[in-house]
Amino acid sequence: MPAVGQSVPRKDAWDKVTGKTQYVDDLSAPGLLYAATVRSPVAYGKLHGLDTAAAAAFPGVVRILTAKDIPGRNINPLVLDDQVFLAETEVRYWGEPIALVVAETSEAAYAAAELVKADITPMTPVLSIRDALKLDAPRLYKGDNVFSSYTIKRGDAAAAFAKAAKIYEREYETPYQEHAYLETNGMMAIPGAEDQMTVYGSMQCPFYVHDAVSQILGLPRNKVRIVQTATGGGFGGKEDFPSVVAGQAALAARVLGRPVKLIFKREEDIIASSKRHPSLVRMKVGVDRDGKLVAADITYYIDAGAYATLSPIVLWRGTVHALGPYVCDHVLIRSYAMATNKVPCGAYRGFGSPQVIFASESLIDEIAADLQIDPVELRRRNGLTLGAKTVTGQTIDQSCGLSETIDKATAAAEWAKKWKPPTARTGKVRPGIGISTIYYGVGLGAGGKHLDRAGASMTIMKDGTVFCAVGNTEMGQGARTVLSQIAADALGAPYEMVNVIEADTAYVPDSGPTVASRTTFMSGNALVAAGRELKGRLLPVIAEKLGATSPDEVDLVDGFGIRKSEPAGTKIPYLDLVKEMYQRRLLPSSFGWYVAPNTEFDKETGQGDAYFVYSWCTNVAEVEVDTETGEVRVVRITSAHDMGRAINPQQVEGQIEGGTLQGMGYCTMEEIRHDAQGKLLNNAFATYILPTMEDVPELRPIIVEHPYSEGPYGAKGFGEVPLMGIAPAIANAVYNATGRRIRILPIKPEKLV
Ligand code: MTE
Ligand code: MOS
Repeated sequence: MPAVGQSVPRKDAWDKVTGKTQYVDDLSAPGLLYAATVRSPVAYGKLHGLDTAAAAAFPGVVRILTAKDIPGRNINPLVLDDQVFLAETEVRYWGEPIALVVAETSEAAYAAAELVKADITPMTPVLSIRDALKLDAPRLYKGDNVFSSYTIKRGDAAAAFAKAAKIYEREYETPYQEHAYLETNGMMAIPGAEDQMTVYGSMQCPFYVHDAVSQILGLPRNKVRIVQTATGGGFGGKEDFPSVVAGQAALAARVLGRPVKLIFKREEDIIASSKRHPSLVRMKVGVDRDGKLVAADITYYIDAGAYATLSPIVLWRGTVHALGPYVCDHVLIRSYAMATNKVPCGAYRGFGSPQVIFASESLIDEIAADLQIDPVELRRRNGLTLGAKTVTGQTIDQSCGLSETIDKATAAAEWAKKWKPPTARTGKVRPGIGISTIYYGVGLGAGGKHLDRAGASMTIMKDGTVFCAVGNTEMGQGARTVLSQIAADALGAPYEMVNVIEADTAYVPDSGPTVASRTTFMSGNALVAAGRELKGRLLPVIAEKLGATSPDEVDLVDGFGIRKSEPAGTKIPYLDLVKEMYQRRLLPSSFGWYVAPNTEFDKETGQGDAYFVYSWCTNVAEVEVDTETGEVRVVRITSAHDMGRAINPQQVEGQIEGGTLQGMGYCTMEEIRHDAQGKLLNNAFATYILPTMEDVPELRPIIVEHPYSEGPYGAKGFGEVPLMGIAPAIANAVYNATGRRIRILPIKPEKLV
């Protein structure tokens, strides 16, 4: 293919690195006002009212808005529909928005917000999974504080445990993780004539924002338009939360009839936006004498925070992935999303699976150590292969690169040469090597299949350039580039002439969220459909010009109309065809619509085809541990990924490198702390510690391609996978260096010592 498979230059790279790109806070509008949020000073309490007198008198303040000003419904529509845009009679987490101050300047809005006094009777908050589970815990949600739960039941786990040669029971815990995207949340809402409202901003999911804005304003959807601006990173953190920001900005704009900007400072973004769920995972696994998994009983809890938001979906993915990419016929998995009085958690790269993967990949390593089997060998014995069944009873029928990723990653990392048991490691600073093998169901799967469709429009302009609109977003992952490559080859036009613009709800119908690594596959397939339709309109012209008897004999490839039988023969340049297209008044536009392959999931048993396809990955981490200080230096990480087909190998490597660093931070540094009243303590990058350039180890990305028959040119999608298995690979390497197993992340020096 001329474009697909090539590391063509990224569409957005030049403007981003030269600072030309306009993010939402760079935009302005005549009469613009600025909003700031008044936040709850307690984690849980009854809200009786607000004293706004001092704030209203502050110079520059235009209006203070509360839930009472909402013309539509005060609920961000999502799964359980429980999160309010502004608190009404109750506050449920520290930092929850209770009012908006709108002023002529951002400074005035923020200063006045400090002056609003909330009359609140505090109540005892629930601050952890363990507290939420207590029988006498305050009831935040229904009778048991459980927002949602799932069960996977396969075979007879109890009977299989009775026959197991050995049984391992362990408990693992993982912390919050903050997305730390470079651009904080922000929106600008502009009211128009005839009740129209346009919202510009940083987001992953314009259609969720569309739902939210039309709901809070009580406006029909055809009056609301959402335009994504260049988005400086999302990582899942801009999946549901931007709906709240957009709803609030739109509320102010609607009430005041003027454009309003609501841009978050870093501190409030860390306090108020979603994060990765903390988790508690109880694993019980039985093996036979050869280390084959014969029974598993897993209980997975996530700390959802004060509102359900995306937790039911995050939990479902974690449940399906809880045992990892292994064969086991007798499995019981139960999972629970627990309500607590903390900021609602949501999507973060991996979507509920990095937590369970840390547990299961650590346990596999513990089993290997106990049975004195090489951890690589144990994984090979148990790994899913073509024809094998997953824990949901799904047969892996194609595109399974797991064993090749194991081969390639371990060969590149020289595992056989470097691996020794911990007892053979001596000295103050000890080397260690660890592995993780993982899989990932691409797309929304059976849990969200009603949303799993995508559209794309394509227009050949008079000058031959191609304008495409899709329903998924660019947030740094390279989507606009990769989709342009797919569009170019589907149509047969040169890559340089194709432009895929940022998402805009006016251009494409609801195409679902930009999550679950689904963009390349879903929007890619929609563009393939659009490109083929448009090309189909040009083929008769090509046939006529080349004297062929039927359009079937010709093709349009890489900017030339050709005869398939003699590709090197006479060619018609694409631009000549465009001229013909316009002269003959042929429709120069097309629309592609793609519906994901079917998936099924029985809610009672958890059996079925959970996802239409899986991506596979093996990570090998090499560390050096200072046994006196407990410091872990990650020296090298080798990651082999099967994403079906690398549409743009350089972008694939970029995804692997970035995701790996996020996984490294998750394992060794990142942690959110709360005080005993539920106040979030580390709301700045001085106190929320992330990997920096200084910490970057040697990274070795390896591409493995097992094409997927349904994918655009074989691609499956894998944007989240690079993060997912890094924490256990490092933890296993730390064990290998020291003989010490850390089961509660992060692995900080003081803990290791
Ligand atoms: N890479 C960058 N640079 N920025 C991001 O925000 N988000 C990740 C991943 N890689 C992200 C990223 C997440 S959480 C997802 S779901 C996928 O990209 C989404 O993009 P895709 O569908 O194109 O893979
Ligand atoms: Mo990604 S967590 O699915 O936005």
